[in-house]
Amino acid sequence: MIDTARRHEFRVLASAHPKLPVLLTAGRFARRLRRVPRIGWVTSDPLTARRILNDPEHFTLLGEGGVGHLWAQVLGDWVYEIFDGPGHHQLRTRTRDLFTDENARLLTERVVGPRLAEAGAELRAGRTVDIADLARVLVGRIVADLLRIPVTEAGDDAYRKIFATGEELASLALGTTASTHLAPETIARAKVIVSRLTANVAGSWRTAPPETVLGRCRELGLEQQQAEGLATLLMVAGTETAASAMARTVALLHDTGAQHRLLREPELLPDAVREGLRVTTPAPLIGRAVAADVTVDGRLLRAGERVLMLTYTANNAAGGFDLDRGYLPDQRQLWFGAGRHLCLGAPVARAEITGMLQTLLDTGRPWRIGGRAYRKRVLIPSYAALPVSIAA
Ligand code: HEM
Repeated sequence: MIDTARRHEFRVLASAHPKLPVLLTAGRFARRLRRVPRIGWVTSDPLTARRILNDPEHFTLLGEGGVGHLWAQVLGDWVYEIFDGPGHHQLRTRTRDLFTDENARLLTERVVGPRLAEAGAELRAGRTVDIADLARVLVGRIVADLLRIPVTEAGDDAYRKIFATGEELASLALGTTASTHLAPETIARAKVIVSRLTANVAGSWRTAPPETVLGRCRELGLEQQQAEGLATLLMVAGTETAASAMARTVALLHDTGAQHRLLREPELLPDAVREGLRVTTPAPLIGRAVAADVTVDGRLLRAGERVLMLTYTANNAAGGFDLDRGYLPDQRQLWFGAGRHLCLGAPVARAEITGMLQTLLDTGRPWRIGGRAYRKRVLIPSYAALPVSIAA
């Protein structure tokens, strides 16, 4: 059963990028730290990765090799302040309460609860629901709410479009494993997408109540352009990752047979969510630039070099999906990163996955998967289609 799950996960990764499974599997041999031509330093050790992520003095995401460097080329130099400088600390401190577990649960219930209830009713009526599509629609709804993107048309299409825009933008980062320098035409394309995506942020930024993300940006003194940039980042960070985790966790529970136990013991739901995140690790790599010479695990890393942390490999070294695995002190929640850039939306992601699984569990019966399609050439590996129905 674990083998079936591994086979499908392998195909999810290989469709996203043919070299990805090779990198992530071979990455096991890098363990602590190894220098790889054209990539730089590579580690798949969870403790080394966390040590690097917790050392902002020597490692930065603003230099070549980090996402800050990537986005500064598209959004502007202010990114250097908000991404890693004092502005970042202020932003994280002041926005902390926006994304507590309780707030994330309420947000999910309010924004996607009715759509999940609809999907549950369809399943109970014997119809097939494409869980991969549903996941994209759900995250589209969450992002539209967070960024106050007005949606006038009824139905799912508007949210599919929002998701697709986030994905289009993220896809521009494809192929940056070797270098985060973007070609001028890529920057130009990204700027067009950003302006389309943030067309309504300016208005909302002026009027949004302080308890919303955009209202909080205004109160923090962020300028409109910065609020637009932050909105873009939330969209890029919070769409594909969450949709990937939702669909792949549903598949893993099915493929490992763990769904039967979960149906009998629903109190294991938080374990299922954690294991789903660990095994899928939707953002499979994290990059940093070395900001100042530093010795890590006996290796001298020089300023200007790059480090690639294979978090997927680090998290999966513990073994396959297992509801009994429990909390792993070495990995902790490395699927959300670590240190000062630990995922801001982690509670939202957990609440979204919980909502999806709860909907399936509420039908009271195991689910079947009627065929699958994998997304091709994407930054975040995922299913394109995962039609699910409830066993009679
Ligand atoms: C399963 C879903 C998700 C996964 C696996 C994930 C993973 C990550 C990881 C690994 C990082 C750290 C990147 C680094 O250190 O370079 C990160 C950062 C971030 N994530 Fe997530 N993420 C998820 C969902 C979300 C959601 C739903 C949102 C927003 C609603 C979000 C917003 C962010 C933001 C804003 C950052 C940047 C934080 C900072 O630099 O301080 N993420 N995420």
